[in-house]
Amino acid sequence: MPSLVIVGTQWGDEGKGKIIDYLAKSANMVVRGQGGNNAGHTVVVGDKKYALHLIPSGVLYNNTVNIVGNGVVLDPEGFLSEVESLQKDGVDISNIYISERAHIVFPYHKEIDALSETKRGEKQIGTTKKGICPCYMDKIERTGIRACDLLEKELFIEKLSEQIDKKNEIIEKIYKAEKLNKEQIITQYLEYAEKLKPFIKDTTVLVYEALCRGDKVLFEGAQGTLLDVDLGTYPYVTSSHPTSGGFTIGAGVGPTMIDEVLGIVKAYTTRVGKGPFVTELDNEIGERIRIAGHEFGTTTGRPRRCGWLDTVIVKFAVRTNGITGLSLMLLDVLTGFETIKICTHYEYQGEIIEHFPASLNKLEKCKPVYKEFKGWTEDISKCETFEDLPKEAKEYILAIEELVGVPVKIISVGPKRTQTIIRENIF
Ligand code: GDP
Ligand code: IMO
Ligand code: MG
Repeated sequence: MPSLVIVGTQWGDEGKGKIIDYLAKSANMVVRGQGGNNAGHTVVVGDKKYALHLIPSGVLYNNTVNIVGNGVVLDPEGFLSEVESLQKDGVDISNIYISERAHIVFPYHKEIDALSETKRGEKQIGTTKKGICPCYMDKIERTGIRACDLLEKELFIEKLSEQIDKKNEIIEKIYKAEKLNKEQIITQYLEYAEKLKPFIKDTTVLVYEALCRGDKVLFEGAQGTLLDVDLGTYPYVTSSHPTSGGFTIGAGVGPTMIDEVLGIVKAYTTRVGKGPFVTELDNEIGERIRIAGHEFGTTTGRPRRCGWLDTVIVKFAVRTNGITGLSLMLLDVLTGFETIKICTHYEYQGEIIEHFPASLNKLEKCKPVYKEFKGWTEDISKCETFEDLPKEAKEYILAIEELVGVPVKIISVGPKRTQTIIRENIF
């Protein structure tokens, strides 16, 4: 299929980076449409590990065009340091473009993100403190500053100066913190503007023309369905739409131009940050998963909360994204567990719940209803086909397909490109 959306089906960190890099081998273009450098996508090539935050995971192939779409919030400092570190590794960065409509993250966004988290106290969201929410707030308030503004020096200085004054008032009066240095920020951002200039384009034209030519275009989701500001575990969510629909706005393409949606699902569940998590294992089993899966945040280094696979969540993701196939990730991490569980339903005050509830108060009181599976002990990290997998691992995969109602088209048995089992060619 020429255009494929990749979305996270859980709370992010499902392994999207690995699969995007894998599929990007045959892609002409990879497009980000939302989020910012709150994302952390790990790509392993040989013995080298790349952590990508703003730059699409197609960058490691010379011929793939990488687009940072209009729906992304772009931190110039983060972007330029990523570019620099890729250059040091000899990666070609000439094929990266930033939408002229993408909103820019400024130091006051990061400052307000951190200050508002501290002020929330017990009710902290656990954000990445990258200024994501405050930047999207400005966008919605219609006071944001976009990449195209960076190219109009006088107007840019005027807009930025006004924003710094406004934000300093908030920082001083509401948060009782020290105001930011206006001149310093302006000087710094004028330097960034010069450096960003060659990357800034009308990316909606580039994406449209690629799709019209029949080029293969991958849309790279960041975060995951349950972090969607509309559909996720609100308010413990991010401030964008990491679901497939998010691309129609965030990449500026019509829905008729998306052919398939691949849902990335971890063989278990993880979450970073706060909020309810029905299948969480706050015990030695959760710890065992965390160690085996190296479950520590790519962006913040925080230990990820771990639990069994929850198909109430995955079914919700299938429904809300129009998922046509799944890629099951980190299956190797479950090797050695005597028993593996899948949550099929929730129980809420004696009642069986099939659909993921909106109310967090209700969700907090939901108990997981599990189906148990016998585990396997064989090393699966070198399996190349579905048939190579142990009987118990196959049964686990078939059970997921049956519970969720969508085929598992890819199985990942390790972080490397070679540790990927393709059951159905999709791209
Ligand atoms: P993303 O945010 O969805 O791109 O996921 P992250 O990169 O934040 O987290 C996924 C982690 O799992 C990374 O460290 C990957 O290198 C790693 N990974 C991906 N697929 C597999 C797999 O099948 N097995 C193992 N053991 N690790 C994997
Ligand atoms: P990738 O793309 C996991 C979480 C944060 C926090 C909440 C809000 O690597 O899957 P924010 O800084 O966005 O305002 O924080 O969202 N979060 C992620 N969790 N993976 C991510 O991205 C995330 N991006 C944001 O931990 O709970
Ligand atoms: Mg991640």
